[in-house]
Amino acid sequence: MKKILITGGAGFIGSHVVRLFVNKYPDYQIYNLDKLTYAGNLENLSDVDKMPNYHFVKGDIVDAAFINQLFEKERFDGVIHLAAESHVDRSITNPMEFIFTNVVGTVNLLNAAKTIWKDNYEGKRFYHISTDEVYGALGDTGSFKETTPYSPHSPYSAAKASSDHFVRAYHDTYGLPTVISNCSNNYGPNQFPEKLIPLFINNIKHNKSLPVYGKGINVRDWLYVVDHARAIDLIFHKGKTGETYNIGGNNEWRNIDLIKKLIEIMDRKLGRPEGTSLALITYVTDRAGHDLRYAIDASKLRAELGWEPTIKFDEGFEKTVEWYLANEAWLNNVTSGSYQDYYKKMYGE
Ligand code: NAD
Ligand code: DAU
Repeated sequence: MKKILITGGAGFIGSHVVRLFVNKYPDYQIYNLDKLTYAGNLENLSDVDKMPNYHFVKGDIVDAAFINQLFEKERFDGVIHLAAESHVDRSITNPMEFIFTNVVGTVNLLNAAKTIWKDNYEGKRFYHISTDEVYGALGDTGSFKETTPYSPHSPYSAAKASSDHFVRAYHDTYGLPTVISNCSNNYGPNQFPEKLIPLFINNIKHNKSLPVYGKGINVRDWLYVVDHARAIDLIFHKGKTGETYNIGGNNEWRNIDLIKKLIEIMDRKLGRPEGTSLALITYVTDRAGHDLRYAIDASKLRAELGWEPTIKFDEGFEKTVEWYLANEAWLNNVTSGSYQDYYKKMYGE
């Protein structure tokens, strides 16, 4: 039996990871530690929260005393660390929150793991979930490899890069059994509608304008969130200690092309004449420090651990749109309250 701590399990990717682990490993005890910020939502886990191997702990990874006590009490065998401030635009307006959670919070977890494991690392693992944004921006060609030098441009990616460095430093200095993965853009159910795809689904539905940053020519490599969760499962169990694995969809889209595809699906699903929602596209001032292009080379993960994305983009994208249209109550809940203030501040409507 193993006790696994998953941080940020009430968020978008974390909830898919918790679901996978709780269902697939009935012998593990899964502890979901989450502060429940605006991005954390226990509704995301309503299908697994009564399972006997699932436990929820509300708490802040920035609170070192609390984290130390929790580790002392539960004596986890493994940590899968996803808790983070994750939205680039918010990091531009409020960078400090990103430094506290993404950097200080990560180091608090490293310290707590190091203390309870006391150099007896047999069967232990600290898995840090990171992002491709740490590598910076690509031009028209090439892709990020695990050896690509770090060059973050936003406070979000700088904080994630810093946390990655601390994880490596704890491996190199104290021998902590760490592993890191850096993934490209995820899409799928339960993503907070400040991010491009759910934001634009919600806006199309309500006939609100679609704020395209700059010229819409930035490129992202999209991966279905369940395929990311599968990669996390594989790396947690079979990845080599001290290593980094890139995870990506091999699925690059220019923002404007992705948005046009989304409009085509949405108009069809909403019974609107084809192309109706194209009129909602509004080009707005570009995001400061906006990375032009991300693309992941996931060949190491494929060669060493046999991982491949399983969901084709056409299928995953259609399923994602259907999920947001079918889960109106979820969308209404998360977009009420403080989200309205954020939206007005960001987009002025
Ligand atoms: P999210 O914003 O949806 O969820 C983050 C979760 O962390 C929320 O449940 C939130 O309540 C929790 N949290 C935030 N601050 C906390 C704190 N101080 N203490 C405890 N819990 C806290 O994020 P996501 O998109 O699911 O991303 C999860 C992780 O994956 C992040 O580390 C992110 O950097 C990384 N990542 C995300 C993507 C993506 O496309 N979304 C891609 C690659 C990597
Ligand atoms: O690459 C992985 C990263 O992907 C993760 O580490 C981050 O946590 C996650 O938020 C995501 O970052 P991006 O900045 O790429 O995602 P976002 O959905 O915010 O934006 C995707 C693209 O769409 C980006 O080029 C900016 C653009 N965009 C975004 C919004 C919110 C717009 O044009 N208009 C918008 O209103």
